[in-house]
Order: sequence, then structure tokens, then C-alpha cells
Amino acid sequence: MSASATGAAVVTGASTGIGAATATALARAGLHVLAGVRDAASAERTARAAAAEDLSVEPVHLDVTAAADVAALRGRVEELGRQGLPLAALVNNAGLAVTGPVECVPLDAWREQLEVNLLGAVATTQALLPALVGARGAVVNVSSMAGRVAGPLFAPYSASKHALEATSDALRREVRGLGVRVVVVEPGVVRTGIWAKGLATRAVRDSWLDDAQRSRYGAFLAAAERAARGADRRGVEAQAVADVVVRAVRSHRPRTRYPVGRDAALAVRLARLLPDRALDALVAGLRG
Ligand SMILES: NC(=O)c1ccc[n+]([C@@H]2O[C@H](COP(=O)([O-])OP(=O)(O)OC[C@H]3O[C@@H](n4cnc5c(N)ncnc54)[C@H](OP(=O)(O)O)[C@@H]3O)[C@@H](O)[C@H]2O)c1
Repeated sequence: MSASATGAAVVTGASTGIGAATATALARAGLHVLAGVRDAASAERTARAAAAEDLSVEPVHLDVTAAADVAALRGRVEELGRQGLPLAALVNNAGLAVTGPVECVPLDAWREQLEVNLLGAVATTQALLPALVGARGAVVNVSSMAGRVAGPLFAPYSASKHALEATSDALRREVRGLGVRVVVVEPGVVRTGIWAKGLATRAVRDSWLDDAQRSRYGAFLAAAERAARGADRRGVEAQAVADVVVRAVRSHRPRTRYPVGRDAALAVRLARLLPDRALDALVAGLRG
């Protein structure tokens, strides 16, 4: 642990992508970062990357769906507090994307989606809120532009992020007088492994559909695959999201929501301005 750290931060899902970039960025900003990872290889990679830059990053084993992991995290945060490192920020970033037609996605897959993206964030927030109140820290929930607009095939993912947005709104209003800031970050397309993971599990998703459903939703499936393949060209870097998280954590009066990327800014604005039918027509046009 660096002697110069001014406080602590927790980042969930810090093995790759936005979480890894955010853990590094918060450590560069002077915090001791507990970086949630799920396996030894990720812990080792995270520790090595931090050591190369002399950053104060401590990998912690954290599956956000495992109560024992969350309890251990709480214990470690309390210990750091006693050592003079109050919890400046909790970044709920861990997530995965379950996609497919509403008609076809098995309920177990829906449950996994909500378990990780929504209840995982709720669990860590419940565990760490006392420390955040004591430190007047910030909760940053990594949502998505899908938390504002729900496109075809994105119902499970969008439902998890809409629910995370609603939870963030309620929490912000609950802790308003306690000095805890609650912020939602809403990235558009970001160049991370999440898209390749989606392509890699395509065979599983295909097995959810029978022939009639495949023909019913074929155009959406083809468009989704094109979008996933194009994410590397269109997306912003994870660093762009990490920079926004650091800005939000440092701000005494952050905005409630930070869209990241032009696509997110546009989606959020259109969702606010357009009537539902106009938005439907626009989304249908994008499919072509
Ligand atoms: N990439 C985008 O275009 C985009 C856009 C908007 C929002 N987001 C959001 O950004 C966040 C990070 O995604 P990413 O794009 O950086 O993807 P990523 O590289 O796939 O990272 C996802 C992270 O979540 C972790 N994770 C998954 N299930 C977990 C669990 N049960 N407990 C703890 N950690 C878990 C993964 O750990 P393992 O390595 O162990 O699997 C990984 O560290 C997600 O919430 C995602 O919805 C991404």
C-alpha cells in the first residue's frame, strides 16, 4: 500500500476493460484501489501492471454474486478505514451482456443478467454504504446508453441497466443529506472484450431459438452481429470512461449522469426528446 494514498476506492470487475482502466486511473489519482477480480491469473496481471507504474492497487477476489466475497470486501474496507484510508469511492462496474429476443432468452439467463449487473451492484452498495457515509464518498454505477434506450435483442441487458439507473436515482435521493454522492456513468460503445465475449457465446444463444424464431428475428440477429463486429472500429477507449469516473469521484457536486461517447450523448438526448413511436421508427431504420 502506498504511503501517499489519500483514501481508498473499490472497483468491481477490474480484470479487464473499463474496470481495469478505472482502477489504474483512480490509483494514478492518489487512491489505494481494491480491484475486484475473479481468478488468480487476473489478480497476478493486475498486481504486475500496478507494480510497473508503482501504483497502489490491491487485487481482491470478488464475485459480486458471492455473499462471502462481498463480506470479505467489507472487512478489508473497514480495515483500511482504521488505517487512515477512508472509502472515497465505490465503482460498480462488474457486468456482462445477455442478449436475445424477449421470447427466447431462458429465464436462467435473465436471472444471471440481473444477478450480476443489478443485484451485484446492490450487494456491494449495501455492504459499503456505512463506510461511504463515514467518508462522504461516492458511488459510481456503470450503466450504459442501454440504460436509457432499449433496442431489439437487448432486453435483458437493458432491463438490468434501466434497473441500475432507477436504483441509483432512489439511492441518490436517500443519501442526499448524508454527504454521499451517487453518479451514473452511461457509456456508448466502448472497445472492450465484452463484444467478443458476446460473439463467442453466439452458439449458446443460437440454441435458444427454434427455426421459426430464427426467421422471425433473423434481421435483428444479423444487425446485432454486425454491430458487435464493428465495436472495435466505432467504440471509444476504456480510458475515456475511466477519465469520466475519476472526474465524477473528484467532484464535490458531480452531475447525476455522465454519458460517455457521442453515441451515448445522442441516444440519451433522443430518448428524452422523441415520443416512443418516433424512437421506434428510428431504431427500425438503424436495423437496415
Ligand atoms: N464495452 C461497452 O461497449 C460498454 C458500454 C456500456 C456499458 N458497459 C458496461 O461497462 C462495464 C464493464 O464492461 P467492459 O466493457 O469493460 O467489459 P469486460 O471487459 O468484459 O469487463 C467485465 C468485467 O466484469 C467482470 N464480471 C463479470 N461477472 C462478474 C461477477 N459475477 N462478479 C464480479 N465481476 C464480474 C469481469 O470479470 P471476469 O474477467 O472474471 O469475467 C470483467 O472484469 C459493464 O457493466 C458493462 O455493462 C460496457
